Amino acid sequence: MNAPDITALLADLRERFHGRLLVDPADTAPFLTDWRKRYTGRALAVAQPESTADVAAVVRWCAEHRVPLVPQGGNTGMVGAATPDDSGRALVLSLARMNRIREIDVVNNTATVEAGVVLANLQQAARDAGRLFPLSLAAEGSCTLGGNLSTNAGGVQVLRYGNTRELCLGLEVVTPAGEVWNGLRGLRKDNTGYDLKHLFIGAEGTLGVITAATMKLHPLPAAQVTAFAAVPDPHAALRLLVLAQKRLAASLTAFELISDYCMQLVERHLPGRRRPLAAASPYYVLLESSDFESEAHAHERFEALLGEAMEAGDVTDAAIAGSIAQSQAFWAIRESIPEAQALEGRNIKQDISVPISSIGRFIDETITTIERDFPGVRMVVFGHLGDGNLHYNVSPAPGVSPDAFMANEAAINHITYEALAAHRGSISAEHGLGQLKPVENVRYKPALEISLMRTVKAALDPLGIMNPGKVLPI
Ligand code: FAD
Ligand code: MLT
Ligand code: ZN
Repeated sequence: MNAPDITALLADLRERFHGRLLVDPADTAPFLTDWRKRYTGRALAVAQPESTADVAAVVRWCAEHRVPLVPQGGNTGMVGAATPDDSGRALVLSLARMNRIREIDVVNNTATVEAGVVLANLQQAARDAGRLFPLSLAAEGSCTLGGNLSTNAGGVQVLRYGNTRELCLGLEVVTPAGEVWNGLRGLRKDNTGYDLKHLFIGAEGTLGVITAATMKLHPLPAAQVTAFAAVPDPHAALRLLVLAQKRLAASLTAFELISDYCMQLVERHLPGRRRPLAAASPYYVLLESSDFESEAHAHERFEALLGEAMEAGDVTDAAIAGSIAQSQAFWAIRESIPEAQALEGRNIKQDISVPISSIGRFIDETITTIERDFPGVRMVVFGHLGDGNLHYNVSPAPGVSPDAFMANEAAINHITYEALAAHRGSISAEHGLGQLKPVENVRYKPALEISLMRTVKAALDPLGIMNPGKVLPI
């Protein structure tokens, strides 16, 4: 496409779409690089619609002109899914200005909100109505519900409340042909054929644009209490998980594993953060209990649980947060790990899941092999152990240049991915595939599954304009 074509195209778009259109490179730049700064693309422009009708107008224009479309929410994704390629042919469609809370129905326990609502704002709106919207992740101050749905985000409360998919009752979607599907139903029961919303959830913007959603709300707990426990190894952490589930049942809302190397990274790069426990331990667990009786009740149960785990030798030391501020300080350490890791420099990021019963063996096998084949590398292991999902990241050995290290990415991933295949795990538990993993996904999924995925893609997006190259290789 040459320059005059682009000018004419954009003039045509301006006639059809009256929302904000960014074309100046200084304005578009923040939309063209991902959070990890791994991918940078180019785009014709960035469109920022304010209504579903605006989105539909943009999508119809893209379909007419065969312009690829890259939906974007808060641009906090980990796999380059919201970044256009470097051809400069795509239009980035930012949903950030579609940020209205349409309705909170406290009797039905639902919130109907637009896709660009920032997750923390949805949590707050639910709290203001005396309800809990449980999805919670460190990027909640900038990620959007549309992005959460499109990646089927997980986060730190999945153990009790499920992934974003489990929290969604209905969607409003603009199809790749520019039609508006209003599926905003707040029903807990609805067996009327294929449940189409599930196609769009986790599709990373490859099948349509989510413009609004009806999400489930939950009762607000009376108290949330957090504990930080030192454990000798992941096997002990797993025994603690089993015990915590037995003793706390549904009150156990978070169970996060953190290796000591993660703590060192946080201390190095974010010096305000303090270790909750004086003595270092190879691993720690951050547990949270949401109690529907009282804070005192939650403390009592935590003390009994941790005492029992200490007697069994699975916990060597522990602290229970005595105040909301202390609990926030515990969480701040956990939630700073991605930022501390980014500040440390380039690294290999993995987002694996295996059945919880296999995770101890998986860690033993893969760490041994990675450390044998790549001496000196530092494993940055943390994440949602209670869901069988770890961020199983690898940083270069001290003194090794990031470029030289990143040349080993495929070989290191191969070790992990082969072990995942043996344990029937997933190469992407919660971050999605984006442009980082579609090829690997084809290698590890059954051919029939990939072929069915391609059939769905071709049926919904026959022109191939929706976020091409993401999820499925072109
Ligand atoms: P974006 O990054 O903008 O987009 C992500 C994908 O969704 C892209 O494919 C994009 O095209 C598509 N998309 C966005 N909006 C729409 C829409 N309206 N319609 C159709 N497609 C759309 N993820 C987790 O799962 N768990 C975590 O614990 C977690 N922690 C994080 C911590 C940090 C510090 C950071 C930076 C990220 C973390 N993430 C986590 C990853 C990320 O925050 C989530 O994937 C989040 O759901 C992305 O939301 P977003 O609005 O930023 O989406
Ligand atoms: C997290 O759990 O903190 C995230 O998914 C982000 C990351 O993996 O860096
Ligand atoms: Zn995570």
